[in-house]
Amino acid sequence: MKTFYIETFGCQMNAHDSEKVVGTLLQEGYTQVDRPDQAELVLYNTCSIRDKAEQKVFSRLQQFKREAGKGKVFGVLGCVAQQEGERIFERAPHVSLVAGSASYTKLPDLLVQLEAGNRRVTGLSLDTNETFDTPYTRRDNPHRAYITIIEGCDKSCAYCVVPFTRGPERSRTSESVLREAASLAELGYTEIQLLGQNVNSYRDPSPAGWDFARLLDETGKTPGIRRVRFTTSHPRDFVKGIVEAIDGNSALCNHVHLPVQSGSTSVLSRMQRLYTRDDYMRRIEWMKNARRSIAITTDIIVGFPGETEQDFKETVRLAEEVEYDSMFIFKYSKRPNTPALEYEDHIPEEEKTRRLMILQELQRAIQIRRNAAYVGTIEEAHVEGYNTATGQWIGRTAQNKTLNFIDAELPGPAEGRTLTGTYADILVTRAGPNSLAGEHIASTMNNGPGRAV
Ligand code: SAH
Ligand code: SF4
Ligand code: F3S
Repeated sequence: MKTFYIETFGCQMNAHDSEKVVGTLLQEGYTQVDRPDQAELVLYNTCSIRDKAEQKVFSRLQQFKREAGKGKVFGVLGCVAQQEGERIFERAPHVSLVAGSASYTKLPDLLVQLEAGNRRVTGLSLDTNETFDTPYTRRDNPHRAYITIIEGCDKSCAYCVVPFTRGPERSRTSESVLREAASLAELGYTEIQLLGQNVNSYRDPSPAGWDFARLLDETGKTPGIRRVRFTTSHPRDFVKGIVEAIDGNSALCNHVHLPVQSGSTSVLSRMQRLYTRDDYMRRIEWMKNARRSIAITTDIIVGFPGETEQDFKETVRLAEEVEYDSMFIFKYSKRPNTPALEYEDHIPEEEKTRRLMILQELQRAIQIRRNAAYVGTIEEAHVEGYNTATGQWIGRTAQNKTLNFIDAELPGPAEGRTLTGTYADILVTRAGPNSLAGEHIASTMNNGPGRAV
């Protein structure tokens, strides 16, 4: 058994975890293949945030069921693994490996057990001494790298499985974060994304005792690093110092993802979100009053148990007031072990859909309006690739907006020449609800060692 396939669901933390798993497997002598039918070891790194995400993995597992036992071994990793544990063996008896995210350092051991023919291998302890050092991480993107700075979650939102699937909060020392940032810069990475379920709840466990704002600022000073992003921020722990850091350090991306969930204080209280609508709006004000223009994005849950029409209207009003740059809207989904399951007045599915659509339509109009304001301005894009179908280069602005563009001198990748990985100044000529488009006017400095432009 020496070939493996891995499919990843869920958030960026999971995407980064998969990079760690892939690195470890390659180190153990495995070869990665692109299709599950070609692999001897098939892994699903799973998400359990909503019911649909959880169902997806069980339907995937059905696909190749008949091949189990014929030399094919199946493993379930990530949040569904941690949540369901050994029950997975009952729901999908052909699965041999079940391991949660805190067990990936033990993966070599677990593989030895699998290779010895063991049919029920588990790694399910939520070991809080888990180290963040990832010597074998195989990163997917050669220009932008994730760094996990805090694992787990100590909040207890009434709808959410994450505290169960990822365990309690553990922060990593500032020294080890900065060391990883510096070594990534040496490898040619220019963009870093700091990750945590609540990234701004970060607390340096070493005597330096840095808070998140300090760590963010210092990461932004790493020589060679041009952009630092961070996600996800929790409103309760969002302090003014973060806005001040962004204002004072141009390497920090002027984009904050600050999930509000609801605009109604009474719903927020039943969600156990630990802030009121006013608390949240104060944080929005700090950002709107910043020197730099900060893009603000959010998550919203519609149809939380007991959400009245009045509550929903308050969410709509909040969305109108804030005018987010982008918004993820989710219908409340019942999750195992969470307090909201026991709440009364669950909202019918059609009503959740109606509320979702109202918000979506409003948000679309806001995005059209906001994005139109960029036409005629010059924005810096970090180039991510080339789209052969549209004949455009694909880039992303510091505010996390997609910016597609054409280049008169290099209409597409040719003879080893590419713009991917460089930073390009783009004159924005068009705008839609979800992206901007423009023309390349100049390449900026420092496009990284060895990159032909
Ligand atoms: N830690 C982050 C969010 C992590 S989960 C925070 O607290 O803001 C990502 C998003 O999934 C959440 O912001 C929420 O909007 C959504 N979500 C979580 N549980 C959900 C559920 N049971 N049903 C619907 N959406 C949910
Ligand atoms: Fe879930 Fe709340 Fe923790 Fe976010 S803060 S991960 S929503 S429990
Ligand atoms: Fe999903 Fe787990 Fe992330 S539940 S959203 S993969 S932390």
